[in-house]
Amino acid sequence: MLSKPHAIFADALASDFAIGAFNTSNMELTQGIIRAADRQKSPVIVQTSEGAIEYAGLQVLSSIIKTLAGQASVPVIMHLDHGKSLDTAKRCIEAGYTSVMIDQSTLPFEQNIKNTKEVVEYAHARGVWVEAELGAIIGNEGVKDLHGGQTPDSFLTDPEQAKQFVESTGVDALAVSVGTIHGAFSGQEYIRFELLHEIQSILPQVPLVLHGASGLSSDNLTQACKTHVCKVNVDTELRIGFERAVKAYFDNAHDSYDPRKILGPGRDAVEAIVAEKITLFGSAGTAGIY
Ligand code: G3H
Ligand code: ZN
Repeated sequence: MLSKPHAIFADALASDFAIGAFNTSNMELTQGIIRAADRQKSPVIVQTSEGAIEYAGLQVLSSIIKTLAGQASVPVIMHLDHGKSLDTAKRCIEAGYTSVMIDQSTLPFEQNIKNTKEVVEYAHARGVWVEAELGAIIGNEGVKDLHGGQTPDSFLTDPEQAKQFVESTGVDALAVSVGTIHGAFSGQEYIRFELLHEIQSILPQVPLVLHGASGLSSDNLTQACKTHVCKVNVDTELRIGFERAVKAYFDNAHDSYDPRKILGPGRDAVEAIVAEKITLFGSAGTAGIY
């Protein structure tokens, strides 16, 4: 069923698990994600970037998610990923999203606060959950170029600023930059646990969000889900799994030009990856408690 995030995040914060947030842009990906969550008896977040909304159309994509959520036996949160404006957030809220992210992380601190606050006021008046980002994640959807002496570490979240940011904006969840990168960079990305613990001790009531989880080691992921990280975003690994499965179809002798035969293996691959991530995040079996 389509669900609000509030009770699920409260539980994730109090317990040792995180909710997986998986990106979709079409029917097959959405089915793969929700089937896996159903199988694992886990709440799940299905999220759409602005690019996905542009590709499929907001009404089409949100209708697919709502329909499949309605058929599921587990809570499904419909979330806007990396929303860049109040306008996008508003459109998603009107379309029935139960959660939105406003990402102004590449703007100066005060401007990030101002724009985030505007979205928080609009969303909270309508019972919608808001995630925002402080510090920035390198890669797609975030910082792409480094200038004048900048290194990836220049964008890590500052704990004191995080406190000021949450207090000034009233945001529900905070995406933090603690070493992950958007995209799958196995061996190059790892979580700075010292920093993560510092942020959570300064903001003990705030659910934290880990972006860029593709490419992170299983150990890092499991350990992170036992902290106040309550939401973990995975996109690239689903795309890679989907592409490999479809490619394998063409690489092997095939006698059909039926799109269902071509895309079906992609859907199954996504389901398998999501089911595995849900196990790592520790949320399997928690769906029955709401
Ligand atoms: O917002 C989406 C995520 O942060 C996905 O990151 O592509 O590295 O899994 P990823
Ligand atoms: Zn992200």
